[in-house]
Amino acid sequence: MQTVRELEPSDVEAFREIRLEGLRLHPDAFGSVHAVEAKETLADFAAKIVRGGLFGGFVEGRLEGMAGFGVSSAAQLSHKGILGGMYVREALRGSGLAEAIVKTVLAHAGRRVEQVQLSVAATNERAIRFYRRLGFQAYATEPRALKVGQTYIDELLMVRFLGE
Ligand SMILES: CC(C)(COP(=O)(O)OP(=O)(O)OC[C@H]1O[C@@H](n2cnc3c(N)ncnc32)[C@H](O)[C@@H]1OP(=O)(O)O)[C@@H](O)C(=O)NCCC(=O)NCCS
Repeated sequence: MQTVRELEPSDVEAFREIRLEGLRLHPDAFGSVHAVEAKETLADFAAKIVRGGLFGGFVEGRLEGMAGFGVSSAAQLSHKGILGGMYVREALRGSGLAEAIVKTVLAHAGRRVEQVQLSVAATNERAIRFYRRLGFQAYATEPRALKVGQTYIDELLMVRFLGE
């Protein structure tokens, strides 16, 4: 059985494990890097959970996917939410878990903001197709958005206007 819910402090070990796995296996997909977060303590990961906005997808009670949602505190940016840190374990891709996670984030976002934005590596065709299916549209490409070692990665910037 699949369930999606906001992470709780008791999820901290599973959260650390899946987050580090995503960073290790997909260095081009995230702004952060494995080498940095691997040095963080369990308490650091617990603090991120406590800050809120982290959603987990569970299959038979095991954390198999996640995403984060945040809103800027600046008054004139607070109509926009950011979806990030999207990762589903390979064995669960295509299962609907990723879709269930994003739909939960969008429902949460709908009570807080007017639009949700994200950035995705311009070569990440699977993720781009996935986000389009969930109603996101590309509005720009950011050249050299990430620098992974000495390699620049362009990112597609996407938005989903809520209530449309
Ligand atoms: C991005 C991610 C969360 C999407 O979840 P998912 O379960 O793979 O998504 P789905 O299978 O529901 O949808 C993927 C779509 O891409 C298609 N697809 C599958 N493999 C593909 C490929 N190699 N190239 C292009 N499209 C592909 C699927 O058919 C599906 O499209 P459709 O619904 O039109 O048939 C997941 O793939 C993932 O965690 N990837 C690694 C981390 C990552 O890239 N995160 C995104 C950071 S922005």
